[in-house]
Amino acid sequence: MKYENILVNIEGQLAQITINRPNKLNALNKDTIQELHGAFTQLEKNKKVRAIIITGSGEKAFVAGADIAEFANFSVKQGKKLAAKGQELLFNFIENLSKPVIAAINGFALGGGLELAMACHFRVASTNAKMGLPEVSLGVIPGYGGTQRLPQLVGRGRAMEMIMTAGMIDAAKALEYGLVNHVVPQDELLGHCTQLAGKISNNSPVAISYAIKAINDCFNTSVNGYDTEIDGFGKCFGTSDFKEGTSAFLDKRKAHFPGK
Ligand code: COA
Repeated sequence: MKYENILVNIEGQLAQITINRPNKLNALNKDTIQELHGAFTQLEKNKKVRAIIITGSGEKAFVAGADIAEFANFSVKQGKKLAAKGQELLFNFIENLSKPVIAAINGFALGGGLELAMACHFRVASTNAKMGLPEVSLGVIPGYGGTQRLPQLVGRGRAMEMIMTAGMIDAAKALEYGLVNHVVPQDELLGHCTQLAGKISNNSPVAISYAIKAINDCFNTSVNGYDTEIDGFGKCFGTSDFKEGTSAFLDKRKAHFPGK
């Protein structure tokens, strides 16, 4: 599939998506969201791929937000549709993807950019990264899940302050808040994420997919996450991955998970 706004690179079991609009600080316009949806859909189907890293091109920005130029003249109805469609196609889609997605935050992650990073399963930032949800400074609120995922990650009080002040925090503060898991120099960012993705890829993809679902259901008020865990735990017993994992342990050898 050919993309205009993103680059997709697959090497072995790892895929990397790079949002590639550096002149617009990788701002998320409609086409980019659609392309990202297409890329994640393809990568989820690709049996070889076991982990995905998403980053921004250039040294300045991960993603500087939703494309302000695109929605500046929207009506109430169009505004609602923009948020709903974006959440469905990209943000909720990534969160519920069966494969692990790591955000490599290489610079500004603002508005929709931070929301994108927060929809990923976890985040690693470079030391120069700056994060924030500046929407209220534009007279709008975060619309791609920011009001929900930020309090989940940093707590209600910090989320309130970040959203109400529209301010940015640096990578060190983001680490202290638990918004990112690691902070590394920019030239080590992708290497660090690749290493983490490699560790993940050695484990059972099927078990990881059930773990993602169960962890996500911790924050899903319409279901009981403990029930999701019980269901996933039980289902693992019917998989080839489980047979391989347990026999490898008992045979004192490294497991090679077939991913089914
Ligand atoms: N939407 C559309 N275009 C954006 C953008 C966004 N969210 N963020 C940056 N850009 C564009 C700028 O308009 C500029 O384009 P131009 O060269 O055609 O004028 C280009 O990217 C470079 O940005 P610029 O503002 O010149 O860079 P800077 O280093 O001076 O400032 C930021 C960097 C991130 C502080 C600044 O770009 C910014 O505040 N962006 C908006 C952040 C935001 O409010 N995001 C939430 C949106 S809901």
